[in-house]
Amino acid sequence: MIIQPLRKLGLKALFAVALLVTGHAIAQQELIVDMSKTIAKIQPTMYGVFFEDINFAADGGLYAEMIKNRSFEFDNPLMGWIQPNSDRHSFNQNSGIASVVNYIGNPTNKNYIRVKVNNDKGYELINEGFRGMGIKKDATYNLYLSALKKSGYIKTIKVQFIGENGSVLGETNIVPTSPDWKEYTSQIVATKTEAKAQLKITFEGTGEIDLDMISLFPVDTWKGRKNGLRKDLVQLLYDMNPGFLRFPGGCIVEGRTLEQRYQWKKTVGPVEDREHLINRWNTEFSHKLTPDYFQSFGLGFFEYFLLSEDLGAEPLPILSCGMACQFNTGELVPMEELDPYIQDALDLIEFANSSIDTPWGKIRNSMGHPEPFNLKYIGVGNEQWGPDYIERYKAFAKAIKDKYPTMIIVSGSGPFPEGDYFEYGWEALKKLQAEIVDEHYYKSPQWFRDNATRYDSYDRKGPKIFAGEYAAQSVAIASPLNKNNWECALSEAAFMTGLERNAEVVHLTSYAPLMAHADGWQWTPDMIWFNNLESYGTANYQVQKMYANNSGTDLLSIKKDGKPLIGQDNLYASAVKDINKKELIIKLVNTSNNNQNVTVNLSGKKVSSKGTMTVLTSESLVDKNSFETPDKISPKESTFKLKGKKAIVDLQANSFVILKFKLI
Ligand code: AHR
Repeated sequence: MIIQPLRKLGLKALFAVALLVTGHAIAQQELIVDMSKTIAKIQPTMYGVFFEDINFAADGGLYAEMIKNRSFEFDNPLMGWIQPNSDRHSFNQNSGIASVVNYIGNPTNKNYIRVKVNNDKGYELINEGFRGMGIKKDATYNLYLSALKKSGYIKTIKVQFIGENGSVLGETNIVPTSPDWKEYTSQIVATKTEAKAQLKITFEGTGEIDLDMISLFPVDTWKGRKNGLRKDLVQLLYDMNPGFLRFPGGCIVEGRTLEQRYQWKKTVGPVEDREHLINRWNTEFSHKLTPDYFQSFGLGFFEYFLLSEDLGAEPLPILSCGMACQFNTGELVPMEELDPYIQDALDLIEFANSSIDTPWGKIRNSMGHPEPFNLKYIGVGNEQWGPDYIERYKAFAKAIKDKYPTMIIVSGSGPFPEGDYFEYGWEALKKLQAEIVDEHYYKSPQWFRDNATRYDSYDRKGPKIFAGEYAAQSVAIASPLNKNNWECALSEAAFMTGLERNAEVVHLTSYAPLMAHADGWQWTPDMIWFNNLESYGTANYQVQKMYANNSGTDLLSIKKDGKPLIGQDNLYASAVKDINKKELIIKLVNTSNNNQNVTVNLSGKKVSSKGTMTVLTSESLVDKNSFETPDKISPKESTFKLKGKKAIVDLQANSFVILKFKLI
């Protein structure tokens, strides 16, 4: 009632009323953006994504294969396969049983199964999928299998989707014809949507049949590629417009032991020849044991390069530097045996960039990509620390630069953003004139709010920064109780104004981990959650997406009383212009529980009087997005009018706002 007349009196009166009514002051802030001067160029790689096969992100996630352990290569070769009517300790006269057989002299695809069917009415072989299989009504699925008729009279292989109670949800038949290995394909159309379907295989006739590589993919994959990637998950990445794609991790690069490190050469070429490896997240955390977590490498280095290309992102592979994960065994390759590891790096560059007449370029060509992938960055080691790392980094850097002088090498400063490992690594890398140093921080939301100044004091002439893994942890690092809540996302948004304000030294940044299967995760929080049917971006995803789609090309100054906004009155700000789109972009973050009146004075250039305001906020700091409410915390855009050269914003409590105006 009293507000209306007071409006005429202006903001001061409203301020007084707010103080009277709520007891909270609505602070008034005067900022100045200077559009006349570019402080630094913003790298196109500024906001990217970090992909690691953790939380079923590859097998069971992005890689759309629906059969777990499709070629019987897990340590327990029948893991994921159920034979409900078979007993290992009987002749199974009323059903049948599968035995695991080793191929002679095949070191990569080691096993197949021999199914002995004694009674075709009784025998069933079921694959449980990755915590089930998500099937959608009327969608078509491509089935592939390799079979050899060994003996007897097996006429038909019947393949069915089944629901929880065994109901048939789609089926097809394959007629095996050959006494030699032969590939068979067919399709199944699902008759119902089901998140936890399974695939049941039965037979008509009795006898022995050998089976291998039983594979099932939706037809509807990203770009419709056969045996491709899950469309909804790639779409979420695509919508982020990432500047780079880092792969394949993470600790997975290093392995628990050297033998279990990620070896890219074993992940290219025909998928059936890619040797499986235990996933190092398999039993890493006792709070989330996933003994059925292996890497099929169906999503291998070729596919990562292709994905980078699809996303318009710079590929950024990270390679083992001859040190196993120092949180595990920390095994070291002796320096005199490091050459094969270095050769892997050199060969990778050849695979990505060289002509199809080179040995590795030829393999890229054979996989359907004669054009180079234009690799510019390569990472040496993940989260390594100490003199052993520096010694190995030096050897890698020398060999890479000798052969490929323009390749940009990413080095690492260890797992923590401070402390003796960190200090030691930085000092050594600085002396070696490292180009880009990777820093990781998994810290509390408060830490993120307090550290918007982290890079203000970094040497502008020293190595550039790759903030390669970061995420606010609501409880503690890697606690299974961590949540992707609004407080964490908002705190990251506040911190990111500091990354942007320091674009002169910060060249690449990425949230981590990227993806998690709701039933198969080990680590939380994660940016994107999915189950077998659906996926959603968390509030953290929305923050990343807003930054990445508004990264601009030139950093501008935005100040209050001549100083950057680094949390005074819980307010943070950064400003950029985009010279290609001809836009001024202002980012404001209010981490206080009160609204704040912010006036941004736009100086130095003209902008159109009408722009847009995009607001990301939520009522409570503990709010989250979920499968039920995936858009609960999502940006809302409206038109925004300037008052002369002023943008007067009622900045909501706990909100992240982007203002955008056309430069004229
Ligand atoms: O993102 C999860 C893990 O955290 C990464 O694999 C590792 O680099 C870091 O310790």
